[in-house]
Amino acid sequence: EGSRQIAIDGPAGSGKSTVAKKVAERLGIFYLDTGAMYRALAYKAVKNKVPLTDEELVSRLAYETDIYFSKERGVWCDGEDVTQAIRTPEVSRAVSLVASYPGVRKRLVELQQAEAERRSIVMDGRDIGTHVLPQAGLKIFLTAEPEVRARRRWQELKSSGKEASLAEVVRDLEERDRQDRNRVASPLRAAPDAVILDTTRLDIEETVARILDMARGGL
Ligand code: C5P
Repeated sequence: EGSRQIAIDGPAGSGKSTVAKKVAERLGIFYLDTGAMYRALAYKAVKNKVPLTDEELVSRLAYETDIYFSKERGVWCDGEDVTQAIRTPEVSRAVSLVASYPGVRKRLVELQQAEAERRSIVMDGRDIGTHVLPQAGLKIFLTAEPEVRARRRWQELKSSGKEASLAEVVRDLEERDRQDRNRVASPLRAAPDAVILDTTRLDIEETVARILDMARGGL
């Protein structure tokens, strides 16, 4: 049996990360959160006061940054545990610009593909089915109504002790989606062979169960 690849894409707040992590757990395979990699880079750029509009500087930074991701130990950037630091509204606002640069994407996609060569994997992001793992055996595109997505993100922030108004979360989420959909390099899009799954009226467990059915039947 060869290694299996499951690609899960979708807009912010569609439930990707939570769902992808559980699917990987149930299948006993590795999970890679590619959004966390873009966030780690955005965090570093903000921290080092690199002007985010300077494409060349930010792209160079991507090649000088060591991003390490592990299930047990979270997300690390140049030897620093950034698991919490990458989830702030400030990083959320910076990340889509950073992720729009082709040089940045080239570097991070290389790292992502290298991970997929070594083992079976569930990967979530925006361009996994279209660019990172075009050969994936199963591609899922998760969607949900915008208000539902914003509310999920807001709950997530609240339960991790971060204060944000719902209106602010709605605004940030819409802006990020707009940027992710409209960028030139690998915009947020469902692959033609992706299964579109609307989670507006599905909870996490139902969504996971549907994907597992497809994974078991279709791979
Ligand atoms: O998944 P998450 O919302 O944490 O991703 C943060 C941002 O990283 C996205 O809004 C997008 O700009 C970028 N991203 C990307 N390609 C991916 C994953 C994330 O451009 N594969």
